[in-house]
Amino acid sequence: MSGCCDHDDYQSVFSGRFARRQSRRYHRRGLTPAARGIVDFATAQGIEGATVLEIGGGVGQIQIELLRRGAARVTNLEISQNYEAEAERLLAQAGMTGRVTRRFLDIAQAPDEVEPADVVVLHRVVCCYRDYARLLSVAGAHARRMLVYSHPAANVVNRLEFGAENLYRRFKGSDFRVFLHAPEDMVRAARSGGLTVAGRTHARDWDVVALAR
Ligand SMILES: C[S@@+](CC[C@H](N)C(=O)[O-])C[C@H]1O[C@@H](n2cnc3c(N)ncnc32)[C@H](O)[C@@H]1O
Repeated sequence: MSGCCDHDDYQSVFSGRFARRQSRRYHRRGLTPAARGIVDFATAQGIEGATVLEIGGGVGQIQIELLRRGAARVTNLEISQNYEAEAERLLAQAGMTGRVTRRFLDIAQAPDEVEPADVVVLHRVVCCYRDYARLLSVAGAHARRMLVYSHPAANVVNRLEFGAENLYRRFKGSDFRVFLHAPEDMVRAARSGGLTVAGRTHARDWDVVALAR
């Protein structure tokens, strides 16, 4: 696959343990600042009755918050299959079972298998995918109204952290890698389908970029 890694690598990195940690964090403290930035932007643009496509949505925290704020329904695309139990539990707790369709699919590899949606979201996903240009241009082409994504800020701390993580993974014999793609190159790819940048915010070590049609 052109992402960087075999799907098995995603399956082992984004494990059941990782899923439980994300779910626990959301349960105790709500959304992270960057995830809140994504939800705030989408909500401010108006999401009443909107369809949402989240790529790499994990346990689905952002989806639950968008549904709470008026979105009609969500499709989640994932490569890892380890989130399902936690995702189901969070949806049941929120009384939203049945409003999210969860599929296992890499949209960059199979764009024609996915319906467009009003709002397309990628939170903490481009940094796990080598071919960001393909992923973001396909994501943008599926966005009827807006595309909102986050990426790690291109700063020294992240460079050191990402470098150390890739070194550790290489040492462990894993092919999985994390990426600090150039922010402006990502924007160019996201805009390629006719979207324009409508907002950019910074939240801790993450940047949020929002584009609208
Ligand atoms: C760091 S996790 C973030 C999960 C969730 N968005 C969150 O913030 O809790 C990145 C996720 O993106 C998924 N992913 C990466 N590339 C993807 C792609 N092309 N299609 C679907 N999922 C993808 C991975 O499987 C992984 O679960």
